[in-house]
Amino acid sequence: MAKTLRVGMIGYGFMGKAHSNAWRQAPRFFALKAHVELHTLCGRNAAGVQAARLQHGWQNAATDWRDVVESPLIDVVDINTPNDSHAEIAIAAARAGKHILCEKPLALTPKQAEQMLAAVQKAKVVHMVCHNYRRIPAIALAKKMVSEGALGQLYHYHARYAQDWLADPEFPLKWRLQKGISGSGAHGDINVHIIDLARYLVGEFKEVCGLMETFVKERPLVY
Ligand SMILES: NC(=O)c1ccc[n+]([C@@H]2O[C@H](COP(=O)([O-])OP(=O)(O)OC[C@H]3O[C@@H](n4cnc5c(N)ncnc54)[C@H](O)[C@@H]3O)[C@@H](O)[C@H]2O)c1
Repeated sequence: MAKTLRVGMIGYGFMGKAHSNAWRQAPRFFALKAHVELHTLCGRNAAGVQAARLQHGWQNAATDWRDVVESPLIDVVDINTPNDSHAEIAIAAARAGKHILCEKPLALTPKQAEQMLAAVQKAKVVHMVCHNYRRIPAIALAKKMVSEGALGQLYHYHARYAQDWLADPEFPLKWRLQKGISGSGAHGDINVHIIDLARYLVGEFKEVCGLMETFVKERPLVY
């Protein structure tokens, strides 16, 4: 009998919907080594999380993420909350021995990210940050071509991710537009994907150019 992985998911907004769908669909597309149980969905609002639970097919609902990470009934914690809560939830989940999927950007600061990594390494749990673009067909093909040498030696990587939905001046002041919660604005929201793809397709950065620091200092973002 295959093992069962009981998932506890924190956050049921935009990404929570996508992750719920992915957890439901994965066994239909892939021969998984374990059964996936959509065990507990967590949000802060009892009525909201209950409605989302029914809509997305979760068995239980919770309103405090601590109950999920500490529950002996949960094997995997899937973090889909705004950026400022990733580190606290992930570190607590690791200490409780849960495997962890965490949405990007991993943390607000490099120091937080290092603490998260140290926690999962100490706990010896499986951990992943959701850089999902690695698996889209065009990128998967690019990776294959690069790996097979079809493109030869790479000298240049140019990426552009265009998104305009926050350019509307009437857009409400949601968490993404608040520096204390989002951390680094479009850099963490969008650039994080193309930086990840640079590492995935080309290789590790050897050096981060000081020019970028100067650029950011001279043109501070207005939040
Ligand atoms: N990988 C991608 O392509 C991708 C795309 C969009 C967003 N994201 C990331 O996913 C995360 C969530 O983004 P979103 O767009 O789904 O945001 P969202 O605002 O739509 O949803 C956030 C959810 O978190 C819940 N939440 C907030 N604080 C909580 C807490 N303390 N306890 C429990 N629940 C809490 C909210 O109620 C809401 O359900 C962010 O880190 C974002 O950067 C990743």
